[in-house]
Amino acid sequence: MISKESIQKINEEARVEEVVGEFVTLKKRGSNLLGLCPFHNEKTPSFNVNPARNIYKCFGCGKAGGPIQFLMEYQQMTYPDALRYLAKKYNIELDETFDEGEQREQQEKQNLTESIFISNAFAQKFFIDYMNNTESGKIGLAYFKERGFLNNTIEKFQLGFSPDASDSLTKNALKEGFQLDILKKAGLTSPKENSTYDFFRNRVMFPIHNMTGKVVGFGGRIMIKDEKAPKYVNTPESEVYQKSKILYGAYFAKNEIRKKDECLMVEGYTDVIQLHQSGIENAVASSGTSLTIEQIRLIKRITPNITMLYDGDKAGVKAALRGTDLILEEGMNVRVVILPETEDPDSYVRKVGADAFQQFIQQNKKDLILFKTSLFANEAKEDPIRKAELIRDIIESIGKIPDTIQRSVYVKECSQLFAMSEQILITEVNKIRRKKASEHDKEAQRSEEIKVKSDRVPDPLNHEQFNETGSHLPVLEREIIRILIEFGSWTTYDEETEIPVIQYVLDELEGLDLETPQYKVVYDLIKRQFADGKILDDKFFIANDDPQISSTAIDILAKPYSLSENWWTKYKVIVPDKKSMFAKDIHSAVIRFKQFKNISELKKIESRIKDAKDDSELLRLMKLHKLLMEQKKEFARTVGNVIYRPTT
Ligand code: CTP
Ligand code: MN
Repeated sequence: MISKESIQKINEEARVEEVVGEFVTLKKRGSNLLGLCPFHNEKTPSFNVNPARNIYKCFGCGKAGGPIQFLMEYQQMTYPDALRYLAKKYNIELDETFDEGEQREQQEKQNLTESIFISNAFAQKFFIDYMNNTESGKIGLAYFKERGFLNNTIEKFQLGFSPDASDSLTKNALKEGFQLDILKKAGLTSPKENSTYDFFRNRVMFPIHNMTGKVVGFGGRIMIKDEKAPKYVNTPESEVYQKSKILYGAYFAKNEIRKKDECLMVEGYTDVIQLHQSGIENAVASSGTSLTIEQIRLIKRITPNITMLYDGDKAGVKAALRGTDLILEEGMNVRVVILPETEDPDSYVRKVGADAFQQFIQQNKKDLILFKTSLFANEAKEDPIRKAELIRDIIESIGKIPDTIQRSVYVKECSQLFAMSEQILITEVNKIRRKKASEHDKEAQRSEEIKVKSDRVPDPLNHEQFNETGSHLPVLEREIIRILIEFGSWTTYDEETEIPVIQYVLDELEGLDLETPQYKVVYDLIKRQFADGKILDDKFFIANDDPQISSTAIDILAKPYSLSENWWTKYKVIVPDKKSMFAKDIHSAVIRFKQFKNISELKKIESRIKDAKDDSELLRLMKLHKLLMEQKKEFARTVGNVIYRPTT
């Protein structure tokens, strides 16, 4: 448990511009900072950082939050980890207590991880030592040389050789004081009970590093062709080695990936090493399996551009393409290169050299979707059923792309490739997106709709805008919440008396309820707090423990509220001073909300009047109707007097 005081301290000290600034280049734009959004792909910056409010918001993809949310989203940290990170960054002493179980667990976990790293480091040195300094180890070195690896490459990648003996490594490690239990957990010793067998025997060894360069596991290759034995043996999944989260070579490649703004994805250890040796240092390997979402995100932190290099055999390519929709979904740009038949990156770069290799990639890289299309288009040509399947498949892929413009480019291209109407494709892609949204993220889609509509605050007097009952309610409610969060603690003039805005709003809305769930939560909280005599400022909401409340607050506050002078001068309205104007804004938001409620209530009553079963019910309804009509007129008069301005 991290104490409330510590969390508060972190919230006070952590500066969003500094935390975000470590990962995103920001430029000053007025009182805000602007940069390219790290959460989606864009060419023109729409990622806003507001130091005064200590929040960021992307006006492209809608991602928003404070320093903690940024770390959780961008670095995939857990909440406690983000707090720990910030405490460290800002030299805040973290008051963290563990109950006994937690403490033991935390410590054990840390100790185990650390111990595994140390055992792996020992093993890695042992394999190198054995290869370089023993007679029988020489064949390992000879194997690497034979494959064309130079000495400094072998050193850089820390390649070694495991003895052809039953327990050579384990025995040595035990002698050095390592515990058998840890060696087993590291995957260096066979996990069988009472066994001290080495896991890797008589294989050339490729250590696998994590992003910080620590050895998390090994791949061991057999030196001869043997039908009975697997070509590679890899460290079993462990505390520190999770195949799905590791990219071989990423530690050595990350700087070059950043510089070139492109990551080359190959299949094997030897492909990575050979490419690096040739000076092509932005290559990593997925180690034979199809890419996982974790691996993709590792790359996404560095570049949005992935180029997949596939060996020249067709069957392999088709299989490999199956996993690639995952990458599209992450909004990355995926390109594909097929190497000449029978070549893999390792053999091909050795054959033609680095320059020709690079040139080949540049000339042959194809956009994933277009590549997929052309690959299958031929075989589908004569077969209408196959063609329909193919089109469906491509549309699925296009539907996964988050960026609207990019989607429409693909739709255009595919409509040409298939000689099909663009409109049909668009309709199909949209169908898929809607289905996806309703499956995965109903909530998110709703907030997206709200965002779109809030581009214009609806005018309840404008009947055209006002026709679909209910659809504008979230916008009006959002406006109420914004006022409460942003100006709740301010004071307003109501005739002669000066009262807090929050009191004014709550009084006015007495008896009415908010309906949009995300706003209702905040509204009810404010009401409860106010009943307790508390008036809260925006910071309370932004840094709220309840993620729904903080994200709603952040989302609302990220769009700056400005009393737009332009509007007033444009319409030649003379404004005596800002304060009264501000009061009118609040007044008009409240009236518009009440007016909306009034109209939808009226509609309800009218339909009930139609269905009324007896005279007494009818009479009651008519009375209600009359009352509401009077209210309606009253609102119309007030709204007519109140000058209101679109706020977004
Ligand atoms: N792989 C594996 N287990 C196997 C075969 C392959 O883990 N039995 C993984 C390894 O990470 C390997 C990658 O898949 O690097 C690609 O396989 P392959 O092309 O067969 O291996 P290369 O590393 O290219 O080996 P070589 O060139 O020596 O044949
Ligand atoms: Mn190979």
